[in-house]
Amino acid sequence: MKVLILGGGGREHAIAWRLRQSPSVSQVFVAPGNPGCALVAECLPVHSPTCVGYLDVARRCRADLVISGPEAPLVDGVTDLFEKEGILFFGPSQAAALLEGSKIFAKRFMERAGIPTARFAATESLDEAKAALDQFTYPVVIKADGLAAGKGVVICWTRSDAEQTLDAMFAGQLVGAAGTRVVLEEYLTGEEVSFIGVSDGERIVSLEPSQDHKRIFDNDEGPNTGGMGAYSDSRILTVEERALIERTIMQRTIDRMREEGTPFRGFLYAGLMMTERGPMVLEFNVRLGDPETQALLHRMEGDFGLLVRTAAEGRVDERHLKFRPEPSVCVVLAAAGYPGKPRTGDTITGIEEAERRSATVFHAGTRIQEGRLATAGGRVLGVTSRGATLGEAIQRAYEACDVIHFDGMQFRRDIGRKGLRRWEGIAGA
Ligand code: AMP
Ligand code: GLY
Repeated sequence: MKVLILGGGGREHAIAWRLRQSPSVSQVFVAPGNPGCALVAECLPVHSPTCVGYLDVARRCRADLVISGPEAPLVDGVTDLFEKEGILFFGPSQAAALLEGSKIFAKRFMERAGIPTARFAATESLDEAKAALDQFTYPVVIKADGLAAGKGVVICWTRSDAEQTLDAMFAGQLVGAAGTRVVLEEYLTGEEVSFIGVSDGERIVSLEPSQDHKRIFDNDEGPNTGGMGAYSDSRILTVEERALIERTIMQRTIDRMREEGTPFRGFLYAGLMMTERGPMVLEFNVRLGDPETQALLHRMEGDFGLLVRTAAEGRVDERHLKFRPEPSVCVVLAAAGYPGKPRTGDTITGIEEAERRSATVFHAGTRIQEGRLATAGGRVLGVTSRGATLGEAIQRAYEACDVIHFDGMQFRRDIGRKGLRRWEGIAGA
């Protein structure tokens, strides 16, 4: 089977790398891909990043199965178009992708379905939003309704802070058009967990839990980013917690979406807060996470291609889903200036040496420039390792980071440390 992946970041490199090792997959294409993807797959140019543009690419390579890395094509309706054209696509329909495309849709859906989530108010004007602040204590969380590339969530510690944020959001200064409808939300505390399932529209099978590190600096300080690293370890959740999440969040979402006539087929990503009241949903994404995927797929065994294909065909087969017990860690190396406007064009060295030190280096923002590998985006590389223990996985990833160089390179030194701390005294940590 020939598989086409839409996108060109670290997540897509990891998907291509894993599919390349799937016995059922004969050829992997990535559109547009990046220099890392080109090491394991054939990269295809995208003349126009629209649904029709992607259809053209899929026809050119005669793909048997198509997967989207990012959410934008899904929210634009790429799945519906491919289905109409008779090409197998694994992803939610445009209607189901609203779980990520509209925070108001997602919150109202969770309310109807009885899925645990923070108390909220959905507002459509500045006056309404300011009035609704009365229903909340501080800090309060303010979220733009539409896709905002990770920039649509602001935590406000005082009323004046909240009013200023609302002013800026409704004026389009923070997230453009995404800010014309806004959700106010109760602030939750606890440990964040990324929980991802693969659904055929009726059943959903879970990947292992993982944890992202969203802030730019160690100890979760500084501004939010797309994700500075992730780790995956089975111990992130107890058996009971996992069963509770599967029952009250994942399967309940799939059941209700089907009942409402918008079945969800695809990767369902729940960003969870493990609160004292139990696991609660912070957000849904309708795709795999970045950089969680790099860590997760590094642990995955079995035929990922067949897992996705069976799910796309409406008969997800769990036998193709296997994980190694060893924990994995992905450390993101970011460019100077990130998460603001990143500097690009810096020469990258040391990747081969890093891979000799038992890491896999996934490319995110890289390009070939005058015959050399150079930085081309905010998140540049995802250095990923496994170990017999979480401590060993962390050590291997950082040993590999130490031999990679580009000017202005910045990365967090504490990816996975929370896990180490939590399991101190438990075997291996
Ligand atoms: P989201 O895009 O909705 O996941 O929000 C981005 C980040 O904001 C999350 O990963 C959390 O760290 C934080 N966040 C979102 N909603 C809440 C909430 N209700 N309480 C506390 N933190 C939140
Ligand atoms: N790592 C968070 C995301 O992919 O949205």
